[in-house]
Amino acid sequence: MALSIVILAAGQGTRMRSDLPKVLHPLAGRTLLEHVVAAARNLGGRAIHVVYGHGGRLVPERLASLPVTWVEQGERLGTGHAVAQALPRVPDADTVLVLYGDVPLITEATLARLVAAAGAEGMALLTVELPDPTGYGRIVRGPDGAVRRIVEEKDADPAARAVREVNTGILAAPARHLTRWLDALDRDNAQGEFYLTDVIAMAVAEGMAVRTVEPGGVEEVLGVNDCIQLAERERDHRRREARRLMREGVTLLDPERFDVRGTLQAGRDVVIDVGVVLEGEVELGDRVRIGPYTVVRNTRIGADTEILSHTRIEDAVIGAGCRVGPFARVRPGTELAAGVHLGNFVELKNAQVAEGSKINHLSYVGDTTVGRRVNIGAGTITCNYDGADKHRTVIEDDVFVGSDTQFVAPVRIGAGATIGAGSTITRDVPAGELTLSRAPQQTRPGWKRPVKKPKG
Ligand code: UD1
Ligand code: CA
Repeated sequence: MALSIVILAAGQGTRMRSDLPKVLHPLAGRTLLEHVVAAARNLGGRAIHVVYGHGGRLVPERLASLPVTWVEQGERLGTGHAVAQALPRVPDADTVLVLYGDVPLITEATLARLVAAAGAEGMALLTVELPDPTGYGRIVRGPDGAVRRIVEEKDADPAARAVREVNTGILAAPARHLTRWLDALDRDNAQGEFYLTDVIAMAVAEGMAVRTVEPGGVEEVLGVNDCIQLAERERDHRRREARRLMREGVTLLDPERFDVRGTLQAGRDVVIDVGVVLEGEVELGDRVRIGPYTVVRNTRIGADTEILSHTRIEDAVIGAGCRVGPFARVRPGTELAAGVHLGNFVELKNAQVAEGSKINHLSYVGDTTVGRRVNIGAGTITCNYDGADKHRTVIEDDVFVGSDTQFVAPVRIGAGATIGAGSTITRDVPAGELTLSRAPQQTRPGWKRPVKKPKG
């Protein structure tokens, strides 16, 4: 059975009170629509069609790289009308799966069950029982328990309103029937819209069995209509990721104060403290510990490394057994080999640091190659930028750099060299020697500080 997927995303999102189309709002670092596409893309469908709204051009523009085709719904005449816009692109023999761009936490596993329940010729609805069904379409079943129809809240009589099983809107149905049923829809209802939900009664009238499937968790079918619900879905996502990681053996000191905005791969006995945000693709080796209030983005961290509090690391590779922070900033292109220490208020950018080297305090090291066992004293600055171009500093193995040194790049420091504190190094330094540049110290005997004259 072949599958075509249709995602409805033409809503104006008025209640977001935002200039951004609703499905472009970010949740856990990705737009709402990207979450839905991610859940759908591995179902093996032949195509994903996204129905976007008039005036919503920004959606296909911003998300041009998504593996979907874009269908404009010129006028927003209801969910039935929206699905009908995509159907001309769907082969008759396919099953159509209808999803919503503003229902971001739906999972691939639930959708796979729904599609399987529909089979090649049948129809399946994703439904859920809610303690408060207000606002949703209700699932009306016959005395035999079989689904009869869906009644929208605004069209429901008191008996239908009392039903707590609601329509999530997500359904799977055969394309050739759906096309026919959608053609036959009218707008004879409280909202004057073409209701997708009216096709259920049509299917039943033709003797088709309508199966229902429940989602793995209720959060999977909850939508985003305003910023409050956006925050609620963010929380649902956070909890889901946290539970997944804890099941895999990651220790989270507080799962409510921890965010994964991307994908995390963690080894054994990883410990993550509060306020940690992991963005993009992050890989943590065995026994990695991450201290409070730290952000790690697109980075691989080797086994036994400890990241201390208030550190930011981005697009970097950190080796095994390193210690980074507190208050360190590791910028793109940085690579630390095993056993490197970076301390407080140290910034690295595009720096490659070999085994066992230490940069412990208040330094900026950019566009630099640092050898093994190098010790860089407090307040060392690589002056890598001359206002026009960036230049490299090369510091070979076993160099000792005294505090408050500036390296004016390009410059190379030979292996085993010692740099005296307070030096400004503008030329290459020979290996093994002490090099320093320092104004001679002076004392002015008998010098007196100026004193303020008393006011007359
Ligand atoms: C719909 C269902 C309702 C269900 C509820 C779940 C219908 C008639 N009703 O109601 O049974 O309980 O969803 O949330 O289907 N959209 C378009 N183009 C349109 C109209 C809607 O793309 O012309 C999109 C919207 O962007 C939105 C989704 O379809 O994402 C649902 O539309 P909405 O009007 O909010 O439907 P509900 O009234 O919530
Ligand atoms: Ca809605």
